[in-house]
Amino acid sequence: FSAILTDGFGRRHSYLRISLTEKCNLRCQYCMPEEGVKLTSRAQLLSTLEVLTLARLFVQEGVEKIRLTGGEPLIRPDVLDIISELRKLEGLKTIAVTTNGMNLARLLPKLKDAGLDLINISLDSLVPAKFEFIVRRKGFHKVMEGIDRAIEMGYNPVKVNCVVMRGLNEDELLDFVALTEKKPLEVRFIEYMPFDGNKWNFKKMVSYQEMLDHIRQQWPNLEKLQTGHSDTAKTFKVHGFKGQFGFITSMSDHFCGSCNRLRITADGSLKVCLFGNSEVSLRDVLRSGASDEELLQIIGGAVGKKKKQHAGMFSISQMKNRPMILIGGHLLRT
Ligand code: GTP
Ligand code: 5AD
Ligand code: SF4
Repeated sequence: FSAILTDGFGRRHSYLRISLTEKCNLRCQYCMPEEGVKLTSRAQLLSTLEVLTLARLFVQEGVEKIRLTGGEPLIRPDVLDIISELRKLEGLKTIAVTTNGMNLARLLPKLKDAGLDLINISLDSLVPAKFEFIVRRKGFHKVMEGIDRAIEMGYNPVKVNCVVMRGLNEDELLDFVALTEKKPLEVRFIEYMPFDGNKWNFKKMVSYQEMLDHIRQQWPNLEKLQTGHSDTAKTFKVHGFKGQFGFITSMSDHFCGSCNRLRITADGSLKVCLFGNSEVSLRDVLRSGASDEELLQIIGGAVGKKKKQHAGMFSISQMKNRPMILIGGHLLRT
């Protein structure tokens, strides 16, 4: 594995998340402040060609999985071209997307044709009015349709991301687990994480242990499933259910030790940790006319400085970072 993508703790970064846009057709409370975010001007965002140039370099160095994020990646007009071009990269095994699901049902056939392998969909409530309150927009039925279509088209597993917030949706845990009885989904309950402008506080966070205890009261005999070395979720299954569920415990039990991720923001910055605030602009290096070797040297320098783990829940909540929507995920990792 390439030395460039190996950090000082021996972690090999074979998974790259690329944010395709800062824009979104939803306004999720945990992702962005109510007043919105100041968007980067179009000229400062990576072009199609720049996205593909960076992807090629990372794949050449050993990246095997690319996840497209945002903002909402499916609103970028060239998303299908990007996927079909990525598909041609030798060595890239998996192309994934994390989406809010709003445009998914409509785009699915084209996404599949372009070569998309995996889909994660955000859904934080099964009650339409509550969904609308959390995402500050309408669209519950469109998202549910997207989830069902993805299953019908053979995507497996379709993962559903549910950010759990006390006082908002923590009363829906059992309903989400029940959804996995008939649908072959993987529902992931995500501990609420602090980002700039999302009004996080410790009391709103529901920990993994608390969620698991609650679910065990209903289903005492959960089966714990095996997970891959760098998976974000700890997964379980109710005996006899088609699907499964899991927990992403970034706050109460971080998984930094097995982190294999790097991320590129829509404006072309390399972030080696979701909760890291040091960034290097690959866009600027690219635009300066640097050679592949020069770019790789800069990437290797940033990866080499990656910290062992994130600074801890309270430090993270105090530090300056980007709002999630400007990081690219619609998500994260140390
Ligand atoms: P898979 O590729 O299916 O494993 O997806 P994923 O979990 O990596 O990606 P997704 O975009 O679905 O993100 C789901 C949740 O994972 C996010 O809400 C984050 O909480 C968490 N996550 C993703 N990447 C990172 C990361 O680099 N660090 C931490 N701490 N959490 C991350
Ligand atoms: N805490 C936890 N998860 C978050 N996401 C966005 N913001 C947060 C947050 N503050 C999730 C979205 C999306 C995934 C990529 O990241 O739900 O599914
Ligand atoms: Fe948009 Fe995803 Fe952020 Fe929600 S979490 S506002 S869907 S980018």
